[in-house]
Amino acid sequence: MAPLAVVTFQPPAQALDHLQVPHVVETDPAQWRALARDAQALCCLLTDRVDAALLAHAGSLKVIATASVGVDHVDVEAATARGIWVCHTPGVLTQATADLTLALILAASRRVPEGEALLRGGRFQGWRHDMLLGLELGGATLGIVGMGRIGRAVASRAAAFGMEVLSSDPGAPDGPGRPVDLEELCRVSDVVTLHCPLTPATRHLFDRARIRSMKPGAILVNTARGAVVDEEALADALHDGHLAAAGLDVYEHEPAVHPRLLTAPRVVLLPHLGSATLKTRTAMATLAFVDATRVVRGLPPLHPFNHP
Ligand code: DGY
Repeated sequence: MAPLAVVTFQPPAQALDHLQVPHVVETDPAQWRALARDAQALCCLLTDRVDAALLAHAGSLKVIATASVGVDHVDVEAATARGIWVCHTPGVLTQATADLTLALILAASRRVPEGEALLRGGRFQGWRHDMLLGLELGGATLGIVGMGRIGRAVASRAAAFGMEVLSSDPGAPDGPGRPVDLEELCRVSDVVTLHCPLTPATRHLFDRARIRSMKPGAILVNTARGAVVDEEALADALHDGHLAAAGLDVYEHEPAVHPRLLTAPRVVLLPHLGSATLKTRTAMATLAFVDATRVVRGLPPLHPFNHP
């Protein structure tokens, strides 16, 4: 029997048990695109571009179930117009991503990579009163841009570190944290962390002017999507010292990293690890497979992003 579902990635076996329709796992992009032509479900990742051309070719598709919360890699409008569900994985990656955000805030503020490089480079010549002084989180102000699930989970962790939390999210005006407008948040925050989805409205939300409006010596952390930030402008602000540091997990043109970010001082760079725990990745794949199975069987999905 021809596969009803095409899976573009090798999932944890425990998760694949939830895909209860005939399926094929095919990780080669040319191959899975060809197989998608006759499939009813496409189970994919954020690195798989699902554009209008693919949707036109895959005429039997009923559901695109992406094992990610972000759907900026899917042409949702084209899918909706064709009556195709787009399903994603809200909720299950909240804690892992919030943990990694705190890891970046701590690494950037306390200069963890610089300290390690100094020691491994044989330059540790004993304790010094003035060595690698950083920002203390207790009493510092954290500005959270985007107060969805992940922003809220970051807020509760930051409060435990004694940070004062400000929030800016037109869709969640009540916080947690003290709601302020984005201008004030940038002006007063010692650390700004981004948790908004990538949409036309948030693309380059942190452009050159916004980055320049941040408090001198502040730190910018991004675990959302790279294109929310103008990377060239960020690199300039790090090179000329307007910003003290940055912690980045995401990039506009992944897997490429802007070359001037690679040479900028005090920037901590991770390879999109926000949700990278076995527990979370298993849960993400499971949600995608459950929804793919439901739609192929004629049931409504549990985690739809659109309403075709
Ligand atoms: C997502 O699911 O959108 C995340 O970026 C994965 O870590």
